[in-house]
Amino acid sequence: MKRESACDRSLTVAARKPTEPRASASGLLATLLATLSFIMLAGCGVTTSQPPVEVFSDMRRQPKYKALGASPFFSDGRASRPPVPGTVAAGRLVGDETFETGVAGKMYVGRNPLPIDAVLLARGRERFDIYCSICHDRAGDGKGIVPVRTAWLAVNLHDERILQMTDGELFNVATYGRRTMPAYRFQTSAADRWAIVAYVRALQRAGQGAIGDVPSEVRGQVR
Ligand code: HEC
Repeated sequence: MKRESACDRSLTVAARKPTEPRASASGLLATLLATLSFIMLAGCGVTTSQPPVEVFSDMRRQPKYKALGASPFFSDGRASRPPVPGTVAAGRLVGDETFETGVAGKMYVGRNPLPIDAVLLARGRERFDIYCSICHDRAGDGKGIVPVRTAWLAVNLHDERILQMTDGELFNVATYGRRTMPAYRFQTSAADRWAIVAYVRALQRAGQGAIGDVPSEVRGQVR
């Protein structure tokens, strides 16, 4: 059933308004204009509980499910889908807080809690090259593509100050960011950041390396 709105009613009134027949074309035009403005003004100032007339439907009316509504589409009849097992509410830290933050009590943890092996270092290198090297460079010297092209200067990870940091502090910087250094906890998992920390340590060790550290059989290949 079509509901008659206040606007519809005023339209009807305006349309039925008797008009005297006029001889001249300009008279007809004047009447037409008057009728038209009457129609247009008729809706003004009228309050109604009816929804406004929509020529094109408003965007606020969309086919969608409301939270916790019913839906015949899903076999359980619910529009809201149950969260995937293991889902964590945004901002809710679960598990080991020290592992997630690099802080135990009020202190940065000293050493990487993960066992350092070739698999971890390979993972750390891969993640470092993806997430950190754009600023810190693959070698960690802070001359990545971003600092070279902008004024956003990253630190040299071989600086004495960074060498002196504990693993927990490096992890915490990668997790929460520091000053102009962005946080990477949204892009990386805690385990991956510990892998990155292990790889940063390997880079730093390589930076401190001397020719005596290179096995004699491959020493000739070092440039
Ligand atoms: C978008 C550029 C950018 C990326 C990517 C980036 N950093 Fe940084 N980083 C910076 C800048 C800039 C600083 C210097 C911050 C300052 O002192 O204001 C910095 C500083 C640091 C520091 C030293 C903090 C201090 O106390 O001075 C560490 C450690 C560090 N970054 C580690 C990382 C690690 C690990 C990653 C990868 C997860 C990473 N960064 C990715 C820009 C970046």
